[in-house]
Amino acid sequence: MPSAVVLAEGVATATVATATAAGPFLKWAGGKRQLLPRILDLVPRRIDTYYEPFLGGGAVFFALAARGAFRRAVLTDTNDELVNCYRAVRDDVESVITALRRFRNTPEHYYRVRAQSPSRLAPVARAARVIYLNRCGYNGLYRVNSSGRFNVPFGRYVRPTICDPVKLRAAARALRAVEIRHADFGEVLGAERFGGDDFVYLDPPYVPVSATASFTAYAGDFGPAEQQRLASALRALSARRVSALLSNSDCAATRALYRGLDLEAVQARRAINSVGRGRGAVGELLVRSFRYACPADLVANTDSVITVVDGQRARGPAAGRSATVSRGEPSASSAGKARDARRS
Ligand SMILES: C[S@@+](CC[C@H](N)C(=O)[O-])C[C@H]1O[C@@H](n2cnc3c(N)ncnc32)[C@H](O)[C@@H]1O
Repeated sequence: MPSAVVLAEGVATATVATATAAGPFLKWAGGKRQLLPRILDLVPRRIDTYYEPFLGGGAVFFALAARGAFRRAVLTDTNDELVNCYRAVRDDVESVITALRRFRNTPEHYYRVRAQSPSRLAPVARAARVIYLNRCGYNGLYRVNSSGRFNVPFGRYVRPTICDPVKLRAAARALRAVEIRHADFGEVLGAERFGGDDFVYLDPPYVPVSATASFTAYAGDFGPAEQQRLASALRALSARRVSALLSNSDCAATRALYRGLDLEAVQARRAINSVGRGRGAVGELLVRSFRYACPADLVANTDSVITVVDGQRARGPAAGRSATVSRGEPSASSAGKARDARRS
């Protein structure tokens, strides 16, 4: 059994503190709550520009913003509705809050809002619609049909928080002066002139855990060709010595894609286990573009198991809400608006 270690206390304390400040205001598939402490350990201490090209709920961005970990940030995603929503919260959060207060948690109201065409709505109304559908729709899913229409059913929650002004205002503060763009990851990773202190966090739609090393096809927009394109982009960052961290599912396909890079296997506990590996445990891989310096390097023995329990690291076996890590080869701002306009 590998030895267990405790990280430097200062590191753990900082990690816990960030989780309670500005945080995601949308529920998003692939949210990083469980893995966040370990991801933060793998982030360089000093960041000039922070890039998150698969923004989603932005859990890592908000955690880093709460720490004041970067000087500037560039957030991108290919989901128009999501990008508009972040921009509206950044630029006019009070109007988004006012608009959200008009929504009701009834199936009739939900299906009426769901049927609206987002392109006909003003940015604030469009953003409020996304937040409302996210809070009141089934499981916070974002799913569209073949004609691009949002088709998630009503969630039947008893008293969902449709409008959380405190959270929204905190998010708006964190997003102030942040550049938010609608862009494919390749556009960002290929075109940017990264500086030595820049950092990129990549959280793509995951490879299905059943994928073999020679996978050729699976359902979904982000198929094998996209995963391959992303792996090539990360290798290019590695060759340029750009500090980047990627998360993905731990399966033969992902290990093959990132062979030779710095890989770390992490076991996160999930309430629902569709994997059938361990009791509720889901394997994920964290891939570093190269061994750049980060707090994780404070760990003396890298071939160890670190147990994370409720955000605190401890010796001994995993317990409660936990993630286990094994190291080594696996086994509103006008300024912001102007920047977006220049870039998109
Ligand atoms: C797994 S989610 C990110 C989860 C996020 N890190 C969080 O904490 O909630 C993946 C995101 O990638 C976006 N996406 C899918 N394909 C993309 C592409 N080619 N380029 C950029 N973003 C893409 C999706 O719209 C989605 O928001």
